[in-house]
Amino acid sequence: METILVREALQRSPGSDPVRVQGWVRTKRDSKGGFSFIEINDGSCMKGLQIVAEGSLENYTSEVLALGTGCSISAVGPVVESQGRGQTVELRAERIQVLGGADPETYPLQKKRHSFEFLRQLAHLRARTNTFGAVCRVRNLLSRAVHDFFQDRDFHYVHTPLITPMDCEGAGELFRVTTLDVEGIAGKGDGKVDFAEDFFGCSTYLTVSGQLEAEALACALGRVYTFGPTFRAENSNTARHLSEFWMVEPEIAFCDLDQDMDLAEAFLKSVIDALLSKGQEDMQFFDQRIQSGIVETLTQILESEFRRIPYDEAIRLLEDSSKEFEYPTTWGNDLQTEHERYITEEVFQGPVIVYNYPSAIKPFYMYVNDDGRTVRAMDVLVPRTGELIGGSQREDRFEVLKARMEEKGVDPEEYGWYLDLRRYGSVPHAGFGLGFERLVQFVTGMANIRDVIPFPRTPKSALF
Ligand code: 4AD
Ligand code: MG
Repeated sequence: METILVREALQRSPGSDPVRVQGWVRTKRDSKGGFSFIEINDGSCMKGLQIVAEGSLENYTSEVLALGTGCSISAVGPVVESQGRGQTVELRAERIQVLGGADPETYPLQKKRHSFEFLRQLAHLRARTNTFGAVCRVRNLLSRAVHDFFQDRDFHYVHTPLITPMDCEGAGELFRVTTLDVEGIAGKGDGKVDFAEDFFGCSTYLTVSGQLEAEALACALGRVYTFGPTFRAENSNTARHLSEFWMVEPEIAFCDLDQDMDLAEAFLKSVIDALLSKGQEDMQFFDQRIQSGIVETLTQILESEFRRIPYDEAIRLLEDSSKEFEYPTTWGNDLQTEHERYITEEVFQGPVIVYNYPSAIKPFYMYVNDDGRTVRAMDVLVPRTGELIGGSQREDRFEVLKARMEEKGVDPEEYGWYLDLRRYGSVPHAGFGLGFERLVQFVTGMANIRDVIPFPRTPKSALF
Protein backbone atom coordinates (compact mmCIF):
# COMPACT_ATOMS: atom_id res chain seq x y z
CA MET A 1 0.00 0.00 0.00
CA GLU A 2 1.10 3.50 -0.83
CA THR A 3 1.74 5.86 2.05
CA ILE A 4 1.18 9.47 1.03
CA LEU A 5 1.38 12.89 2.60
CA VAL A 6 -1.68 14.95 3.46
CA ARG A 7 -0.62 17.42 0.78
CA GLU A 8 -0.62 14.65 -1.80
CA ALA A 9 -3.94 13.26 -0.59
CA LEU A 10 -5.55 16.66 -1.01
CA GLN A 11 -4.41 16.71 -4.64
CA ARG A 12 -5.60 13.20 -5.48
CA SER A 13 -8.57 12.75 -7.71
CA PRO A 14 -11.36 10.97 -5.87
CA GLY A 15 -11.91 7.27 -6.19
CA SER A 16 -8.35 6.09 -5.88
CA ASP A 17 -7.11 2.83 -4.43
CA PRO A 18 -6.70 2.78 -0.67
CA VAL A 19 -3.74 4.78 0.61
CA ARG A 20 -2.23 5.30 4.01
CA VAL A 21 -1.91 8.76 5.62
CA GLN A 22 -0.37 9.53 8.99
CA GLY A 23 -0.50 12.60 11.13
CA TRP A 24 -1.68 14.37 14.25
CA VAL A 25 -5.31 14.99 15.06
CA ARG A 26 -6.27 18.65 14.98
CA THR A 27 -9.99 18.23 15.61
CA LYS A 28 -12.59 15.53 15.81
CA ARG A 29 -16.35 15.80 15.48
CA ASP A 30 -18.63 12.92 16.34
CA SER A 31 -21.84 12.85 14.40
CA LYS A 32 -25.11 11.63 15.85
CA GLY A 33 -25.33 9.11 13.07
CA GLY A 34 -22.57 7.11 14.71
CA PHE A 35 -19.52 8.20 12.73
CA SER A 36 -16.78 10.79 13.17
CA PHE A 37 -14.89 13.39 11.20
CA ILE A 38 -11.23 13.57 12.13
CA GLU A 39 -8.98 16.26 10.74
CA ILE A 40 -5.32 15.39 10.65
CA ASN A 41 -2.27 17.45 9.76
CA ASP A 42 1.17 16.06 9.00
CA GLY A 43 3.15 19.25 8.39
CA SER A 44 3.31 18.72 4.63
CA CYS A 45 1.03 21.72 4.13
CA MET A 46 -1.17 24.08 6.10
CA LYS A 47 -4.46 22.39 5.33
CA GLY A 48 -5.53 19.22 7.08
CA LEU A 49 -7.12 16.12 5.63
CA GLN A 50 -10.58 15.10 6.73
CA ILE A 51 -10.91 11.45 7.60
CA VAL A 52 -14.35 9.92 7.86
CA ALA A 53 -14.48 7.15 10.44
CA GLU A 54 -17.54 4.97 10.27
CA GLY A 55 -18.97 3.41 13.42
CA SER A 56 -18.37 0.01 11.85
CA LEU A 57 -14.59 0.30 12.28
CA GLU A 58 -13.54 -2.42 14.68
CA ASN A 59 -11.91 -0.01 17.13
CA TYR A 60 -14.49 2.78 16.69
CA THR A 61 -15.94 2.69 20.20
CA SER A 62 -12.82 1.51 21.94
CA GLU A 63 -10.34 3.96 20.37
CA VAL A 64 -11.61 6.31 17.67
CA LEU A 65 -14.25 7.91 19.86
CA ALA A 66 -11.60 8.70 22.43
CA LEU A 67 -9.28 10.45 19.96
CA GLY A 68 -8.58 14.10 20.70
CA THR A 69 -6.36 16.95 19.58
CA GLY A 70 -2.71 15.95 19.47
CA CYS A 71 -3.13 12.18 19.10
CA SER A 72 -1.19 10.57 16.28
CA ILE A 73 -2.90 8.15 13.93
CA SER A 74 -2.41 6.19 10.77
CA ALA A 75 -5.45 5.79 8.54
CA VAL A 76 -6.02 3.61 5.49
CA GLY A 77 -8.73 4.00 2.90
CA PRO A 78 -9.64 5.47 -0.47
CA VAL A 79 -9.61 9.18 -1.17
CA VAL A 80 -13.18 10.05 -2.07
CA GLU A 81 -15.16 13.09 -3.02
CA SER A 82 -16.23 14.94 0.09
CA GLN A 83 -19.90 15.43 0.80
CA GLY A 84 -19.24 18.24 3.23
CA ARG A 85 -18.17 21.80 2.60
CA GLY A 86 -14.65 23.09 3.12
CA GLN A 87 -12.82 20.33 1.25
CA THR A 88 -13.11 18.61 -2.09
CA VAL A 89 -11.75 15.24 -1.03
CA GLU A 90 -11.56 13.23 2.17
CA LEU A 91 -10.29 9.84 3.20
CA ARG A 92 -12.90 7.23 3.96
CA ALA A 93 -11.16 5.14 6.57
CA GLU A 94 -11.21 1.37 6.35
CA ARG A 95 -8.73 1.13 9.18
CA ILE A 96 -7.50 3.56 11.80
CA GLN A 97 -4.55 2.79 13.98
CA VAL A 98 -3.87 4.94 16.99
CA LEU A 99 -0.12 5.47 17.20
CA GLY A 100 0.10 7.77 20.21
CA GLY A 101 -2.50 9.16 22.57
CA ALA A 102 -2.56 12.69 23.99
CA ASP A 103 -4.26 13.25 27.31
CA PRO A 104 -6.78 16.07 26.75
CA GLU A 105 -6.36 17.12 30.39
CA THR A 106 -2.70 17.92 29.94
CA TYR A 107 -2.03 18.37 26.18
CA PRO A 108 -1.23 22.08 26.08
CA LEU A 109 -2.26 22.87 22.50
CA GLN A 110 -5.99 22.68 22.70
CA LYS A 111 -8.04 24.14 19.89
CA LYS A 112 -8.22 27.70 21.23
CA ARG A 113 -5.75 30.34 20.14
CA HIS A 114 -2.66 30.72 22.25
CA SER A 115 -0.48 33.80 22.56
CA PHE A 116 2.96 33.69 20.96
CA GLU A 117 4.51 34.34 24.39
CA PHE A 118 2.78 31.27 25.78
CA LEU A 119 3.83 29.17 22.80
CA ARG A 120 7.49 30.16 23.24
CA GLN A 121 7.52 28.05 26.38
CA LEU A 122 6.25 25.18 24.23
CA ALA A 123 8.75 25.41 21.39
CA HIS A 124 8.87 21.60 21.27
CA LEU A 125 5.18 21.48 20.32
CA ARG A 126 4.47 24.80 18.65
CA ALA A 127 5.43 23.61 15.15
CA ARG A 128 2.12 21.73 15.31
CA THR A 129 0.22 25.00 15.21
CA ASN A 130 -0.74 26.68 11.95
CA THR A 131 1.51 29.69 12.49
CA PHE A 132 4.68 27.82 13.40
CA GLY A 133 4.14 25.10 10.85
CA ALA A 134 3.93 27.88 8.26
CA VAL A 135 7.03 29.62 9.66
CA CYS A 136 9.01 26.39 9.39
CA ARG A 137 7.88 25.78 5.83
CA VAL A 138 8.72 29.37 4.86
CA ARG A 139 12.20 28.94 6.36
CA ASN A 140 12.64 25.82 4.29
CA LEU A 141 11.46 27.47 1.07
CA LEU A 142 13.67 30.50 1.61
CA SER A 143 16.69 28.32 2.39
CA ARG A 144 16.27 26.52 -0.86
CA ALA A 145 15.77 29.81 -2.71
CA VAL A 146 19.03 31.11 -1.20
CA HIS A 147 20.96 28.12 -2.54
CA ASP A 148 19.19 28.27 -5.91
CA PHE A 149 20.03 31.95 -6.34
CA PHE A 150 23.74 31.51 -5.73
CA GLN A 151 24.11 28.14 -7.42
CA ASP A 152 22.51 29.57 -10.56
CA ARG A 153 25.13 32.31 -10.57
CA ASP A 154 28.24 30.16 -10.21
CA PHE A 155 28.78 30.78 -6.52
CA HIS A 156 30.44 28.04 -4.51
CA TYR A 157 28.85 27.12 -1.22
CA VAL A 158 31.70 27.12 1.29
CA HIS A 159 31.86 26.16 4.96
CA THR A 160 33.55 28.56 7.32
CA PRO A 161 34.43 27.69 10.91
CA LEU A 162 32.08 28.20 13.82
CA ILE A 163 34.88 28.20 16.37
CA THR A 164 37.34 30.98 15.71
CA PRO A 165 39.89 33.21 17.44
CA MET A 166 38.69 36.25 15.42
CA ASP A 167 36.21 38.98 16.25
CA CYS A 168 35.16 39.93 12.73
CA GLU A 169 32.85 42.79 13.66
CA GLY A 170 35.17 44.09 16.39
CA ALA A 171 32.22 44.67 18.67
CA GLY A 172 33.41 42.31 21.40
CA GLU A 173 30.08 40.50 21.45
CA LEU A 174 31.67 37.09 21.68
CA PHE A 175 30.73 33.82 23.32
CA ARG A 176 33.89 32.24 24.64
CA VAL A 177 34.57 28.60 23.82
CA THR A 178 36.66 26.92 26.48
CA THR A 179 37.28 23.61 28.20
CA LEU A 180 39.09 25.26 31.08
CA ASP A 181 37.82 24.58 34.56
CA VAL A 182 36.15 27.96 34.95
CA GLU A 183 34.86 27.18 38.41
CA GLY A 184 38.30 26.13 39.55
CA ILE A 185 39.84 29.29 38.08
CA ALA A 186 37.18 31.43 39.71
CA GLY A 187 37.98 29.71 43.01
CA LYS A 188 41.62 30.73 42.88
CA GLY A 189 40.62 34.34 42.73
CA ASP A 190 43.81 35.82 41.23
CA GLY A 191 41.81 36.79 38.10
CA LYS A 192 44.43 35.36 35.76
CA VAL A 193 43.53 32.83 33.10
CA ASP A 194 46.19 31.25 30.93
CA PHE A 195 44.46 30.53 27.64
CA ALA A 196 47.60 28.83 26.34
CA GLU A 197 46.39 26.00 28.58
CA ASP A 198 42.98 25.99 26.91
CA PHE A 199 41.80 23.38 24.42
CA PHE A 200 43.01 25.21 21.31
CA GLY A 201 45.97 26.82 23.02
CA CYS A 202 44.49 30.28 22.57
CA SER A 203 41.31 32.24 23.17
CA THR A 204 38.48 30.99 20.97
CA TYR A 205 34.90 32.08 20.43
CA LEU A 206 31.76 31.20 18.52
CA THR A 207 31.84 33.11 15.26
CA VAL A 208 29.91 36.37 14.78
CA SER A 209 30.34 36.15 10.99
CA GLY A 210 32.00 33.88 8.46
CA GLN A 211 33.13 36.85 6.40
CA LEU A 212 36.86 36.90 7.05
CA GLU A 213 37.33 33.26 6.12
CA ALA A 214 34.90 33.67 3.21
CA GLU A 215 37.17 36.45 1.91
CA ALA A 216 40.09 34.02 1.84
CA LEU A 217 38.01 31.54 -0.17
CA ALA A 218 36.64 34.23 -2.52
CA CYS A 219 40.21 35.26 -3.24
CA ALA A 220 40.72 31.81 -4.73
CA LEU A 221 37.33 30.57 -5.88
CA GLY A 222 35.95 33.89 -7.10
CA ARG A 223 32.38 33.75 -5.90
CA VAL A 224 31.46 32.02 -2.68
CA TYR A 225 28.73 32.08 -0.08
CA THR A 226 28.18 30.71 3.38
CA PHE A 227 24.89 29.98 5.06
CA GLY A 228 25.33 29.03 8.66
CA PRO A 229 24.72 29.87 12.27
CA THR A 230 26.33 32.90 13.87
CA PHE A 231 26.43 33.93 17.50
CA ARG A 232 26.36 37.27 19.24
CA ALA A 233 26.57 37.88 22.95
CA GLU A 234 24.83 41.18 22.43
CA ASN A 235 22.68 42.15 25.36
CA SER A 236 19.85 43.39 23.16
CA ASN A 237 16.46 42.32 24.35
CA THR A 238 14.55 43.44 21.30
CA ALA A 239 12.12 41.90 18.84
CA ARG A 240 14.92 41.93 16.22
CA HIS A 241 17.88 40.36 17.97
CA LEU A 242 18.80 36.76 18.62
CA SER A 243 21.95 35.47 20.29
CA GLU A 244 22.09 32.64 17.74
CA PHE A 245 20.93 33.37 14.22
CA TRP A 246 21.56 32.18 10.69
CA MET A 247 23.40 34.33 8.22
CA VAL A 248 23.80 34.16 4.46
CA GLU A 249 27.12 35.67 3.41
CA PRO A 250 28.18 35.93 -0.22
CA GLU A 251 31.71 37.14 -0.94
CA ILE A 252 32.78 38.11 -4.44
CA ALA A 253 36.20 38.75 -5.93
CA PHE A 254 36.55 41.53 -8.52
CA CYS A 255 33.51 43.32 -7.13
CA ASP A 256 32.94 46.87 -5.92
CA LEU A 257 30.24 48.42 -3.76
CA ASP A 258 27.86 49.18 -6.63
CA GLN A 259 27.98 45.60 -7.84
CA ASP A 260 27.53 44.44 -4.26
CA MET A 261 24.34 46.50 -3.95
CA ASP A 262 23.12 45.16 -7.30
CA LEU A 263 23.66 41.63 -6.06
CA ALA A 264 21.88 42.27 -2.75
CA GLU A 265 18.86 43.70 -4.54
CA ALA A 266 18.69 40.87 -7.10
CA PHE A 267 19.12 38.34 -4.30
CA LEU A 268 16.28 39.68 -2.17
CA LYS A 269 13.95 39.89 -5.14
CA SER A 270 14.82 36.38 -6.20
CA VAL A 271 14.12 34.75 -2.84
CA ILE A 272 10.89 36.73 -2.38
CA ASP A 273 9.78 35.72 -5.87
CA ALA A 274 10.44 32.06 -5.08
CA LEU A 275 8.52 32.36 -1.83
CA LEU A 276 5.50 33.96 -3.45
CA SER A 277 5.31 31.35 -6.17
CA LYS A 278 6.07 28.22 -4.12
CA GLY A 279 4.65 29.19 -0.74
CA GLN A 280 1.26 30.55 -1.69
CA GLU A 281 -0.80 28.69 0.87
CA ASP A 282 1.39 29.71 3.80
CA MET A 283 1.75 33.28 2.52
CA GLN A 284 -2.03 33.60 2.28
CA PHE A 285 -2.18 32.60 5.92
CA PHE A 286 0.33 35.29 6.93
CA ASP A 287 -1.56 37.82 4.87
CA GLN A 288 -4.87 36.98 6.51
CA ARG A 289 -3.78 36.36 10.09
CA ILE A 290 -0.49 38.08 10.76
CA GLN A 291 0.23 41.05 8.52
CA SER A 292 -2.55 42.25 6.31
CA GLY A 293 -1.32 43.19 2.83
CA ILE A 294 2.06 41.47 3.10
CA VAL A 295 1.68 39.60 -0.19
CA GLU A 296 0.91 42.86 -1.98
CA THR A 297 3.85 44.59 -0.30
CA LEU A 298 6.21 41.81 -1.38
CA THR A 299 4.83 41.83 -4.91
CA GLN A 300 5.50 45.57 -5.11
CA ILE A 301 9.07 45.01 -3.96
CA LEU A 302 9.60 42.68 -6.91
CA GLU A 303 8.42 45.38 -9.26
CA SER A 304 10.22 48.38 -7.84
CA GLU A 305 13.82 49.48 -7.74
CA PHE A 306 15.40 49.86 -4.33
CA ARG A 307 16.23 53.47 -3.54
CA ARG A 308 19.94 54.02 -2.89
CA ILE A 309 21.04 56.98 -0.83
CA PRO A 310 24.37 57.88 0.74
CA TYR A 311 24.48 58.07 4.53
CA ASP A 312 24.86 61.87 4.23
CA GLU A 313 21.47 62.10 2.59
CA ALA A 314 19.88 59.76 5.14
CA ILE A 315 21.09 62.12 7.86
CA ARG A 316 19.68 65.13 6.01
CA LEU A 317 16.30 63.40 5.71
CA LEU A 318 16.28 62.69 9.43
CA GLU A 319 17.32 66.20 10.36
CA ASP A 320 14.75 67.76 8.04
CA SER A 321 11.97 65.63 9.44
CA SER A 322 9.65 67.07 12.04
CA LYS A 323 9.73 63.79 13.94
CA GLU A 324 11.05 63.52 17.47
CA PHE A 325 13.65 60.75 17.54
CA GLU A 326 14.95 59.17 20.70
CA TYR A 327 18.52 58.82 19.38
CA PRO A 328 20.64 61.63 17.87
CA THR A 329 20.47 62.18 14.12
CA THR A 330 23.66 64.15 13.69
CA TRP A 331 26.38 63.10 11.23
CA GLY A 332 28.60 60.43 12.71
CA ASN A 333 25.94 58.56 14.65
CA ASP A 334 24.82 55.11 13.62
CA LEU A 335 21.30 54.77 12.29
CA GLN A 336 18.97 53.30 14.88
CA THR A 337 15.90 51.19 14.14
CA GLU A 338 13.62 54.22 14.57
CA HIS A 339 15.63 56.07 11.91
CA GLU A 340 15.65 53.10 9.55
CA ARG A 341 11.91 52.71 9.94
CA TYR A 342 11.27 56.39 9.30
CA ILE A 343 13.32 56.33 6.10
CA THR A 344 11.81 53.11 4.76
CA GLU A 345 8.24 53.47 5.97
CA GLU A 346 7.58 57.18 5.84
CA VAL A 347 9.99 58.67 3.32
CA PHE A 348 10.30 55.98 0.65
CA GLN A 349 7.68 53.37 1.57
CA GLY A 350 9.88 50.53 0.48
CA PRO A 351 13.38 49.08 0.68
CA VAL A 352 16.25 51.55 0.78
CA ILE A 353 19.98 50.95 0.54
CA VAL A 354 22.05 53.39 2.57
CA TYR A 355 25.75 53.47 1.66
CA ASN A 356 29.02 55.25 2.49
CA TYR A 357 28.79 55.30 6.28
CA PRO A 358 31.22 57.17 8.54
CA SER A 359 34.36 55.11 9.02
CA ALA A 360 34.28 55.65 12.78
CA ILE A 361 31.16 53.53 13.27
CA LYS A 362 32.13 50.65 10.98
CA PRO A 363 34.58 47.73 11.34
CA PHE A 364 38.21 47.78 10.24
CA TYR A 365 37.77 45.74 7.06
CA MET A 366 35.72 48.23 5.03
CA TYR A 367 37.22 50.10 2.07
CA VAL A 368 38.08 53.70 2.93
CA ASN A 369 36.68 56.26 0.50
CA ASP A 370 38.82 59.08 -0.89
CA ASP A 371 37.14 61.55 1.49
CA GLY A 372 38.92 59.69 4.28
CA ARG A 373 35.92 59.89 6.57
CA THR A 374 33.52 57.38 5.03
CA VAL A 375 33.79 53.71 4.09
CA ARG A 376 32.18 51.71 1.31
CA ALA A 377 29.54 50.12 3.51
CA MET A 378 25.94 49.50 2.61
CA ASP A 379 22.87 48.43 4.57
CA VAL A 380 19.64 47.26 3.02
CA LEU A 381 16.77 48.61 5.10
CA VAL A 382 13.16 47.52 4.84
CA PRO A 383 9.91 48.70 6.43
CA ARG A 384 9.14 47.31 9.93
CA THR A 385 12.25 45.15 10.22
CA GLY A 386 14.86 47.85 9.56
CA GLU A 387 18.29 46.44 8.68
CA LEU A 388 18.03 43.22 6.74
CA ILE A 389 21.45 43.17 5.09
CA GLY A 390 24.80 44.67 6.02
CA GLY A 391 27.68 44.60 3.59
CA SER A 392 30.67 46.40 2.16
CA GLN A 393 33.50 46.54 -0.30
CA ARG A 394 36.53 45.26 1.59
CA GLU A 395 39.75 47.18 2.05
CA ASP A 396 42.14 45.50 -0.35
CA ARG A 397 45.11 47.92 0.05
CA PHE A 398 47.65 46.46 2.47
CA GLU A 399 48.87 49.70 4.02
CA VAL A 400 45.42 51.23 4.38
CA LEU A 401 44.07 48.07 5.99
CA LYS A 402 46.97 47.85 8.42
CA ALA A 403 46.50 51.47 9.41
CA ARG A 404 42.75 50.90 9.90
CA MET A 405 43.45 47.93 12.15
CA GLU A 406 45.76 49.96 14.30
CA GLU A 407 43.21 52.76 14.47
CA LYS A 408 40.51 50.31 15.58
CA GLY A 409 42.70 48.57 18.15
CA VAL A 410 42.93 45.36 16.14
CA ASP A 411 46.36 43.74 16.40
CA PRO A 412 47.76 43.20 12.84
CA GLU A 413 49.94 40.40 14.26
CA GLU A 414 46.85 38.35 15.03
CA TYR A 415 45.46 38.98 11.55
CA GLY A 416 48.58 38.02 9.63
CA TRP A 417 46.74 35.60 7.35
CA TYR A 418 44.08 38.22 6.61
CA LEU A 419 46.77 40.72 5.65
CA ASP A 420 48.38 38.03 3.47
CA LEU A 421 45.33 38.21 1.23
CA ARG A 422 46.40 41.83 0.54
CA ARG A 423 50.05 40.89 0.32
CA TYR A 424 49.62 38.25 -2.37
CA GLY A 425 47.37 38.86 -5.35
CA SER A 426 45.02 41.31 -3.71
CA VAL A 427 41.85 42.13 -5.64
CA PRO A 428 38.89 44.41 -5.07
CA HIS A 429 36.21 42.31 -3.41
CA ALA A 430 32.93 42.80 -1.62
CA GLY A 431 30.16 40.91 0.10
CA PHE A 432 27.28 41.15 2.49
CA GLY A 433 25.46 39.37 5.28
CA LEU A 434 21.74 38.74 5.34
CA GLY A 435 20.20 37.94 8.72
CA PHE A 436 18.06 34.96 7.76
CA GLU A 437 15.60 35.42 10.65
CA ARG A 438 15.20 39.10 9.81
CA LEU A 439 14.23 38.02 6.31
CA VAL A 440 11.73 35.47 7.62
CA GLN A 441 10.37 38.10 9.96
CA PHE A 442 10.01 40.62 7.18
CA VAL A 443 8.26 38.31 4.71
CA THR A 444 5.87 36.79 7.22
CA GLY A 445 5.12 39.94 9.20
CA MET A 446 5.78 38.12 12.47
CA ALA A 447 6.31 40.76 15.13
CA ASN A 448 8.97 39.02 17.18
CA ILE A 449 12.13 37.40 15.85
CA ARG A 450 11.83 34.75 18.60
CA ASP A 451 8.85 33.39 16.70
CA VAL A 452 10.59 32.81 13.37
CA ILE A 453 13.28 30.37 14.55
CA PRO A 454 12.27 27.02 16.03
CA PHE A 455 14.30 27.27 19.24
CA PRO A 456 15.31 30.88 19.93
CA ARG A 457 18.33 31.83 22.02
CA THR A 458 18.17 35.24 23.65
CA PRO A 459 19.72 36.83 26.74
CA LYS A 460 18.73 34.77 29.80
CA SER A 461 16.95 32.19 27.69
CA ALA A 462 18.28 28.99 26.14
CA LEU A 463 15.38 26.58 26.61
CA PHE A 464 15.24 23.21 24.85
O1 4AD B 1 25.57 43.96 9.77
P1 4AD B 1 26.23 42.73 10.30
O2 4AD B 1 26.80 42.79 11.66
O3 4AD B 1 27.34 42.37 9.21
C1 4AD B 1 28.26 41.39 9.29
O4 4AD B 1 28.33 40.55 10.15
C2 4AD B 1 29.15 41.30 8.09
N1 4AD B 1 30.38 40.59 8.48
C3 4AD B 1 28.42 40.61 6.98
C4 4AD B 1 29.22 40.52 5.71
O5 4AD B 1 29.52 41.53 5.11
N2 4AD B 1 29.56 39.32 5.31
O6 4AD B 1 25.21 41.52 10.24
C5 4AD B 1 24.60 41.15 9.03
C6 4AD B 1 23.11 40.97 9.22
C7 4AD B 1 22.38 42.22 9.69
O7 4AD B 1 22.08 43.06 8.62
C8 4AD B 1 21.14 41.62 10.31
O8 4AD B 1 20.19 41.30 9.33
C9 4AD B 1 21.65 40.33 10.90
O9 4AD B 1 22.86 40.02 10.25
N3 4AD B 1 21.89 40.42 12.35
C10 4AD B 1 21.12 39.83 13.28
N4 4AD B 1 20.01 39.10 13.17
C11 4AD B 1 19.46 38.64 14.30
N5 4AD B 1 19.95 38.88 15.54
C12 4AD B 1 21.07 39.62 15.69
N6 4AD B 1 21.57 39.82 16.91
C13 4AD B 1 21.70 40.14 14.53
N7 4AD B 1 22.80 40.88 14.32
C14 4AD B 1 22.91 41.04 12.98
MG1 MG C 1 25.03 45.84 10.39
